[in-house]
Amino acid sequence: MIIICGGIKGGGGKTTSSINLAIMRGLSGYDVLLVDADSTDNGNASDFSAIRDEVVENKAYTAIKLNGKTIAKEIPKLAEKYDDIIIDVGGQDSVSQRASLTVADIFLVPVFPSSFDTWVVDSVNSLVEEVSAINTKLKAFCYLSRADVSGNQNDDTAKILNEDYPEIEYIDCPIKNRKVFRNSVAQGLGVVEFKPKDSKAIEELEKLYKFTFNEDYKAV
Ligand SMILES: Nc1ncnc2c1ncn2[C@@H]1O[C@H](COP(=O)(O)OP(=O)(O)OP(=O)(O)O)[C@@H](O)[C@H]1O
Ligand SMILES: [Mg+2]
Repeated sequence: MIIICGGIKGGGGKTTSSINLAIMRGLSGYDVLLVDADSTDNGNASDFSAIRDEVVENKAYTAIKLNGKTIAKEIPKLAEKYDDIIIDVGGQDSVSQRASLTVADIFLVPVFPSSFDTWVVDSVNSLVEEVSAINTKLKAFCYLSRADVSGNQNDDTAKILNEDYPEIEYIDCPIKNRKVFRNSVAQGLGVVEFKPKDSKAIEELEKLYKFTFNEDYKAV
């Protein structure tokens, strides 16, 4: 399966979702390729993978960097060699993101629950509408990311995401704002590997994993 974590807004949690899904999928026994398609050079999947290389023996995925329209040609070839490919793109409407969308099966769009981030989903909806004409198999999902642990801002945003964007299906698996998401990344670890264990964060990721791969998460 080819999965892209994207959107048109920075800082929503694309890289966090990409690396955690790549690690969980790899730990489940699948051969996973994590593609860094973010051309900006700060806090992307490659930086994380470099830290991870130093701290774990089994990285659980193979990491590469790809950019621009070449992605549309390279990814289908790589898809013959890997069980799953997860592509992390930057937070803007880039050639890399469009090229990835022409070949992907699933488009995951994490949305930070704020008015501004939610309005931007309108442009993502138009982008999906355009790309779907070329790639009819593409399924787009959005979910709350860095969501409030309590309060009703999540519900307000969820309602808008659920009702206003016909091209993007809202999935009810909020990834909440928890320290473990930052701390694990800083240590080159997935949330499922981090100690002390944060069961709530793991449950949230397991739910996202299930929506994405249509299978329960089970490390081998
Ligand atoms: N659920 C979360 N809880 C707490 N912090 C989070 C969570 N998700 C992401 N973060 C932190 O928020 C920041 C932005 O996250 P991340 O890099 O995943 O976003 P992004 O969408 O990839 O950003 P960019 O558009 O810059 O690529 C990072 O410092 C990350 O550690
Ligand atoms: Mg990122």
